[in-house]
Amino acid sequence: MDSIVVTGGQPLAGQIPIAGAKNACLTLMPATLLSDEPLTLMNAPRLSDIRTMSELLKSLGAEVASLQDGKVLALSSHGPINTRADYDIVRKMRASNLVLGPLLAREGHAVVSLPGGCAIGARPMDIHTDGLGKMGADIDLKDGYLHAKAQGGRLKGAVIDFPFASVGATENIAMAATLAKGTTVLNNAAREPEIVDLVKCLRAMGAQIEGEGTSTITIEGVDRLGGATHTVVTDRIELGTYMLAPAICGGEVELLGGRIDLLEAFCEKLDATGISVSETQQGLSVKRNGGGLKAVNVTTAPFPGFPTDLQAQMMALLCIANGTSVLEEKIFENRFMHAPELIRMGADIDVHGGTATVKGVGQLKGAPVMATDLRASVSLILAGLAAKGETRVARVYHLDRGYEHVVRKLSQVGARIERVSDT
Ligand code: EPZ
Repeated sequence: MDSIVVTGGQPLAGQIPIAGAKNACLTLMPATLLSDEPLTLMNAPRLSDIRTMSELLKSLGAEVASLQDGKVLALSSHGPINTRADYDIVRKMRASNLVLGPLLAREGHAVVSLPGGCAIGARPMDIHTDGLGKMGADIDLKDGYLHAKAQGGRLKGAVIDFPFASVGATENIAMAATLAKGTTVLNNAAREPEIVDLVKCLRAMGAQIEGEGTSTITIEGVDRLGGATHTVVTDRIELGTYMLAPAICGGEVELLGGRIDLLEAFCEKLDATGISVSETQQGLSVKRNGGGLKAVNVTTAPFPGFPTDLQAQMMALLCIANGTSVLEEKIFENRFMHAPELIRMGADIDVHGGTATVKGVGQLKGAPVMATDLRASVSLILAGLAAKGETRVARVYHLDRGYEHVVRKLSQVGARIERVSDT
């Protein structure tokens, strides 16, 4: 296993390129199952989660070629499709459940392992299965697998009212509905930019779909879809993460490809904290506004609210803000595992259920800490950039799931950071 060692206190300067969105790519890739024509994805991120999804799709009979050093994915599923997604792959990544809708739409049946829980929560699939059930799918849970079968061999359109704006359920069911017989209306659909990106790609494949980015998405089922070439949207979570780097340790950094419209709620909180964000020809430039860091309260919510995937990173910044901040995590039941690690670095954090109260301290101190999940691991790196002395973050395989070349990207703007092997 590897660790990342950061020596803090170094203001940053320069440019960081932002990659294509992991969470867009992970829903775009299974869309290949909806058509027997080629699907080409440009601006794909080079991440272990993408490799896991490629492995899963290949196990289902799809072809996935990684070109141009992984930035282009050429997918096709013209051959016979295996409709069983095995636990040994699915357990590695929850997003594997996004093959359920496409398999049901393409083949009329599917056997997909439940992904199981993960560090941040139980991650059930009831919203997915209830919605597909309304479209005429019979779904039984047997020995950890969802056994799904479309009555009459083809899903039918339905009006589905989501109890919660679930990102994955919106994606799974929107993909399934593209080939259903009749019209599907998704009410209280998730509005994330990654869903907007998926819908744009599905439309390019010939889907009759509209309303993306709003709470109501309407899909007219068609008999078949074609191929497409699609450019993956910028990763707003990687963007927000790196915007916090100059915020937490000073200096000024330009994020290439950054777009404010992807992160309005987050940028409002940065502004309130005393961080200035300005649009440039190539993206966004970020620096402290010189008035000191101020405490702010944060509550996570579905888009366009404050992203849960940036909560851990924001907490790292607020650890050194003047005053007391209250962070409420409303999306996942166990997403404060970075707090005990930040406390090891001298942070003053009190966690009760879904609420963390952070009292700003003058200075964090470097310490050995442990990554527990993808976003918690990068919040520890951010804290290390500001801390006095050396911080060693262990189990950084979590990072490789969602951040490409994090050491290179931060070194290039002057951070003292290196990856070391623990063996
Ligand atoms: C997506 O997960 C993202 N993953 C997550 O990013 C992100 O945190 C999450 O959306 C929220 O924005 C991908 O896109 C691959 P949800 P997803 O369905 O689809 C509950 C990262 O760090 N729920 O919106 O699983 C669920 O338990 C990852 O990149 C049900 O109860 O999120 C959770 O509490 C982490 N029943 C909440 O809803 C269901 O059927 C949000 O889940 C589905 C979800």
